[in-house]
Amino acid sequence: MTKSDEPIVRLDNVSRQLVLGGQKIDIVRGVTLAVERGESLVIVGSSGSGKSSLLELMGTLSRPSSGTVFWGAQRLSQMSARKLLELRRKRLGFVFQSANLIDHLSAVANVALPLAYAGYPKSKRVRLSHEWLEKVGLSSVADRPASRLSGGERQRVSIARALAGAPDLVLADEPTGSLDQATGQIIMDLMVSLVGNQRNLVVVTHDASLQHRFNRSVHMAHGQITVNTHAPVTSCA
Ligand SMILES: Nc1ncnc2c1ncn2[C@@H]1O[C@H](COP(=O)(O)OP(=O)(O)OP(=O)(O)O)[C@@H](O)[C@H]1O
Ligand SMILES: [Mg+2]
Repeated sequence: MTKSDEPIVRLDNVSRQLVLGGQKIDIVRGVTLAVERGESLVIVGSSGSGKSSLLELMGTLSRPSSGTVFWGAQRLSQMSARKLLELRRKRLGFVFQSANLIDHLSAVANVALPLAYAGYPKSKRVRLSHEWLEKVGLSSVADRPASRLSGGERQRVSIARALAGAPDLVLADEPTGSLDQATGQIIMDLMVSLVGNQRNLVVVTHDASLQHRFNRSVHMAHGQITVNTHAPVTSCA
C-alpha cells in the first residue's frame, strides 16, 4: 500500500510517442503531474490535445515512451504483470463516454462483474451491487437489461460499477459527452458527491459549465499541460 502523504499517482516528465506510417507523433509531451490524495481534478483542452492519452497513462492502460509513472512510491514500469492487473482491478475505476455496459446483462449484473474480477465472494457482490444501484437512484431497474436503459441511466450504472469496488482513483473520460446538458450536470454532481473526499477523481470534459465542481483544473494543448491551477479555468478551447 502507498503511504498516505504520497500522491496517489504521479507522472514525472512523461511522454508518449506513436509511430504511424513511419512518422513519429508526440501525443503527450513531457507532462509532470501529481494527483494528491482527496483531490478532484478536471482536464480540459481542445480535441486532439492529448486528454484521453493522459488519462490512459494515469490508468495504466498505456505506457510512456519516456518518463516515469508512479503509483504511490512504486514505479509502474517495475510492477509485475500480476501486480498491475491487481492495481487495475482493485484500485482503479473507469467511466467512459459511452457507458460500455454489457447490453444483455442486467444493470445489477453489470455492476457486479468487475467485483467478481476483484475477487469479491458472490454474496458480497450482490449486496454491494444493489447498494450502489440504490445510491445512483436505479434500484427500480436493477434487473432490467442494460440495452433497455436510457443514456443517463446507463451512465449511472457505469458510475456504480466504477465505485462499487471502492477504488482509490476514479478516471472518467467525457462521462457526460453523450448526454444532454441538464442530464450531464446531474450525472457529474452525482459522481463528484459519491466519490467524496475519500477517493480521487480525474475527469476529462469539454463542458466548461461542469468545471467549477473540481478543486483543480489542468488545461492541455498539443500534448502538454499549459495551465495547472487550483482555481477552475473558465473556458475550454
Ligand atoms: N492509437 C492512436 N493512433 C494514432 N493516433 C492517435 C492514437 N491515439 C491518439 N492519437 C492521436 O493523439 C492525439 C491525442 O489524442 P487524444 O485522444 O488523447 O486527444 P483528446 O484530447 O482526448 O481528444 P478528444 O477531445 O477529441 O477526445 C490526437 O492527435 C490523436 O489523433
Ligand atoms: Mg478524448
